[in-house]
Amino acid sequence: MLVLGLETSCDETGVALYDSERGLLADALFSQIDLHRAYGGVVPELASRDHVKRMLPLIRQVLDEAGCVATDIDAIAYTAGPGLVGALLVGASCAQALAFAWDIPAIGVHHMEGHLLAPMLEPTPPTFPFVALLVSGGHTQLVRVDGIGQYQLLGESLDDAAGEAFDKTAKLMGLRYPGGPEIARLAELGIPGRFVFPRPMTDRPGLDFSFSGLKTFTLNTWQQCQNSGDDSEQSRRDVALAFQQAVVETLTIKCRRALKQTGLNSLVIAGGVSANRALRTSLEDMTAALKGNVFYARPAFCTDNGAMIAYAGCQRLLAGQHEDLAITVQARWPMEQLPAL
Ligand SMILES: Nc1ncnc2c1ncn2[C@@H]1O[C@H](COP(=O)(O)OP(=O)(O)OP(=O)(O)O)[C@@H](O)[C@H]1O
Ligand SMILES: [Mg+2]
Repeated sequence: MLVLGLETSCDETGVALYDSERGLLADALFSQIDLHRAYGGVVPELASRDHVKRMLPLIRQVLDEAGCVATDIDAIAYTAGPGLVGALLVGASCAQALAFAWDIPAIGVHHMEGHLLAPMLEPTPPTFPFVALLVSGGHTQLVRVDGIGQYQLLGESLDDAAGEAFDKTAKLMGLRYPGGPEIARLAELGIPGRFVFPRPMTDRPGLDFSFSGLKTFTLNTWQQCQNSGDDSEQSRRDVALAFQQAVVETLTIKCRRALKQTGLNSLVIAGGVSANRALRTSLEDMTAALKGNVFYARPAFCTDNGAMIAYAGCQRLLAGQHEDLAITVQARWPMEQLPAL
């Protein structure tokens, strides 16, 4: 089955062609980062309008790259939520219109299920069951995964998501949007131990997270540096490193707890923050000590992309699921509401 995947939940237009037998045939992405950078974050109306401009050229591009024509496509998968409603509607209406015109089925995919399944596109994919850590711009969740659509939420952030904490902290320190890669880049040259930040909510039982206090702690530290006349590039690196280490260690402690609690030793990390090298190394060390493994996607498939939507949609289409002609999207959509395959 050849599936066209469309992702438009936020500020990336992602399009891909995934074939259930041949694997991923083509993948194209247009990132709107430059468009939103001047505003320090995503402007929803600008995002929607840009998706309209990019969608059809990207579809033509993946068809060319894969050496396919429109009539080869068997079904269309699109992101139906969670995300920005206007942006989601662009992908959903384009998918439904093309599906109607080509007389093929369409399926709405849950964006976080897409992220969660992205590591399945790698040469050594994880096998069920596993614990998943979803760490993106809008989510920080620990989920027990027994199969596609069999999700049990174990814990989540009570305030900022991990990626959001990276982005907001970076902004407070005068860094460019998006802040995650900027902080990671600075942290590589930071001096360990100069600053030590708290590991929020690790001193009590449970698997929930809270990152908003850490953001304030980082701001206060950076302001103290500035007030004492020590706002050098090295200080900025040292603060970035202390922040990153606090996030990484907090996530590692909670992942270890989740593995112990479930009795599993397989961990999947997904979403933009799973591209972070320090996080990957820390989780590799932790799972190795438990004689387990950690699985993640290539960096381009950690952040938003069409490939993960084409893959997730394909699995559900193969199980006989698809939508009717109505165009429905959901800004909020708990993943546990998804049907099991
Ligand atoms: N190397 C990195 N280190 C830390 N954070 C990173 C890194 N690369 C990307 N990020 C963060 O990942 C986030 C983007 O990830 P993603 O595209 O999965 O989120 P989103 O789609 O905006 O949110 P959601 O998937 O929850 O709707 C941003 O917050 C960005 O700062
Ligand atoms: Mg995302």
